[in-house]
Amino acid sequence: MLFNRSITTQFTIVFVVALLLVVGSFYLVLDSVYRNELKSQAETVADNVDAFGSWVSQYGRVWVRDDNKSYLGQVTLVSAPDAAGGPAAADVWHFYSKNPALAQREFSEVVEKSASPAKFRVTSHNFMNPVNKPDAFEAKALERIRAQHLAEYYEMSPDSFRFARTLYVKASCLPCHASAENAPADVKTRYGTERGFGFKEGEVAGIISVRLPVRSFWKVTTDVVGPLQIALLVSAFVVAVLFIQFTVVRPIKRVTSAAERISVGQQADLGAAGLKRTSRNEIHQLVLATERLRASLAMAMQRLTKKQNPPTPPNPPA
Ligand code: HEC
Repeated sequence: MLFNRSITTQFTIVFVVALLLVVGSFYLVLDSVYRNELKSQAETVADNVDAFGSWVSQYGRVWVRDDNKSYLGQVTLVSAPDAAGGPAAADVWHFYSKNPALAQREFSEVVEKSASPAKFRVTSHNFMNPVNKPDAFEAKALERIRAQHLAEYYEMSPDSFRFARTLYVKASCLPCHASAENAPADVKTRYGTERGFGFKEGEVAGIISVRLPVRSFWKVTTDVVGPLQIALLVSAFVVAVLFIQFTVVRPIKRVTSAAERISVGQQADLGAAGLKRTSRNEIHQLVLATERLRASLAMAMQRLTKKQNPPTPPNPPA
């Protein structure tokens, strides 16, 4: 059925099918490039969160002034009386300490409110601060990571890319996370003794969880494909159709009508005069072969007519 259609129709169908295949392969290539790109972005965010934690841990804790909302320990400094022994202008400073995880949480809260599209938090199956309770993805990631001993876990949903990097318990974590009894007093005072303890070295302590927005393929496509791109695609189609018309369809039509005229004994010019026998163009070869067919047909006809009306014999010698 399809093969009974004109070459132009068949070509149009082939063009559309080929186009769909090309678009499909582009989709697959772009999709995997995009996923890899998202993953490496998420890894970079996790690296930065980790580096920030390391910055805090190289001092054990960092101390800030006058922030009594979120802290672990507290000290108050009072200025010494002046040398003369007179009453000092009572200068009093309150300092509050932040451990790495607490500083990372505050960092994540600042980023959450910022314009940055990449968000993150540090969470655990056995969280010390209820604010750090894992969400559905994080709970699932923690479960998979702990059951299958994974170093990372990620998922792509229609609107976001979620990534989890495993944090392991090191010896340096044990003073606060091993047992509630031996934990620093300020930890117990602020976080209680119920959660965030009982960890052993080498175990999964929690995850750095990163969330990136995802743009759907159709969103990206409508962003990059505009009138100009469509015009170029249509031009490609028109160029290809014109080529098929001028190099295949029209020459074949010409040969066909010439062959029809020859078949009923009429004169026909195949246009073979200008063509080279050595041409590699298949249509030229078809025209030349048809021309040879026409010539031998004409010769055979001539011989046939000669036999039917034999020439008058030459006059007998006198
Ligand atoms: C100085 C005590 C201390 C040390 C040492 C410590 N942590 Fe914590 N950790 C805390 C406190 C306090 C929190 C809760 C912070 C908050 O309020 O968000 C916490 C929170 C966490 C969290 C987030 C989930 C939760 O429990 O709320 C993870 C994960 C974590 N710590 C892992 C570690 C790892 C891994 C180490 C060692 C590299 C470590 N901690 C060392 C005190 C400590």
